[in-house]
Amino acid sequence: IEKFKGVKSLVDSGITNIPDFYVRPKDERPGELDSTASVDQIPVFDLAALHGEGRGALVKAIGEACEEWGIFQVINHGVRSNVMKSMMGVSKGFFHLPMDEKMLYYSNVPSQPVRYGTSFNPLHESVLEWRDVLKHMVITSPPEENIQYWPDKPPAYREATKNYILEMMVVRTKILSAISEALGLDSNYLQGVFEQQMLGLNHYPECPNPDLALGISSHSDASGITILLQDGQVAALQALHQNRWVCVQPLPDSLVVIVGDQLQILSNGKYKSAEHRAIVNREKERVSIVTLFLASNDTLLAPIAKLLDKSHRPKYQDIKCEKYMQKYLNKQHNKKSTLDSIK
Ligand code: SIN
Ligand code: FE2
Repeated sequence: IEKFKGVKSLVDSGITNIPDFYVRPKDERPGELDSTASVDQIPVFDLAALHGEGRGALVKAIGEACEEWGIFQVINHGVRSNVMKSMMGVSKGFFHLPMDEKMLYYSNVPSQPVRYGTSFNPLHESVLEWRDVLKHMVITSPPEENIQYWPDKPPAYREATKNYILEMMVVRTKILSAISEALGLDSNYLQGVFEQQMLGLNHYPECPNPDLALGISSHSDASGITILLQDGQVAALQALHQNRWVCVQPLPDSLVVIVGDQLQILSNGKYKSAEHRAIVNREKERVSIVTLFLASNDTLLAPIAKLLDKSHRPKYQDIKCEKYMQKYLNKQHNKKSTLDSIK
């Protein structure tokens, strides 16, 4: 139970060393692979080009990035800078509320419309992640449906979050239409599948032993795609590429797009969900905001028929999305283990 109080309250209590249950086994600690860290950067795409003559070339490049990296940054994506700033501001504001205010939203039931908690799944974890979280299910049509459940502190929270969610829906269309086209599907194909939206706010407080802990341990996302907004001040997100951890350097006003397991399944393994993690920092806290676009619970996740033929046999067993999500949520973050279990 003590564990459930979260990281922020630990830090506020003035600890100078992290408790044992945050210490990673040696081979998971940051730095282990960093000595060989490549100078590679994840790809960056200027989405302004989607609206002009360059669309075909950009679509092709995005498809290649989904095959090779499963993660890329986008700029000129159309989300207004002040909307991102406000979202970041209210997120930080929420995590800095007094504990009892945050505990109003505490739950360990994943299906709660709004849930405050710590780490990923403390009941199933041998080592905890150095992270507190606030998660929202989002009913997108209309978003007003679930606003009543959202925190109303800090005072601008609901307004800022609603504006952000509405803009995320527009970027989703841009990115999913490009990815659909890259796969040779109708432009709106994937949008029709990944229509559920979930918002997750991550808070990584300063950590006295950043060399021993991880903010989020190595995992791929369960989503179709994830759109991530990160604090511009602290580089902490890392993606595994050719067995090396590559740091994602946040570009001003950029968003990070992450291919999730559901897109890997639908594309029959052509597009790879990115294995990623986040490190923590001794002096600086960090906030990241993830928007997950997922299939609905009763969707049957399976490779798209159009992508299969004699030489492209299905690589995954069909599975109901709801079942996949349960498998994913009922264990600790562990690389791509959920996806590996349906091969
Ligand atoms: C996540 O994978 O959900 C968060 C990664 C980050 O904080 O950058
Ligand atoms: Fe993630």
